[in-house]
Amino acid sequence: MIVCVCNNISDREIRQAVDLGITSIVALREELGLGTDCGKCISYAREVLHEAIGSK
Ligand code: FES
Repeated sequence: MIVCVCNNISDREIRQAVDLGITSIVALREELGLGTDCGKCISYAREVLHEAIGSK
């Protein structure tokens, strides 16, 4: 499912980023460009990020 509509970033891509060592929204923003436009995706992206980190 797409999390960041503006930049076409899916929950799967966020999980893959976590597998590669990403642990923060700031890093997701830097690496994938997530949240760099309207910013509406940030709170859901944070949930997906924490869930992915928690399931490691
Ligand atoms: Fe992510 Fe707009 S939905 S920046």
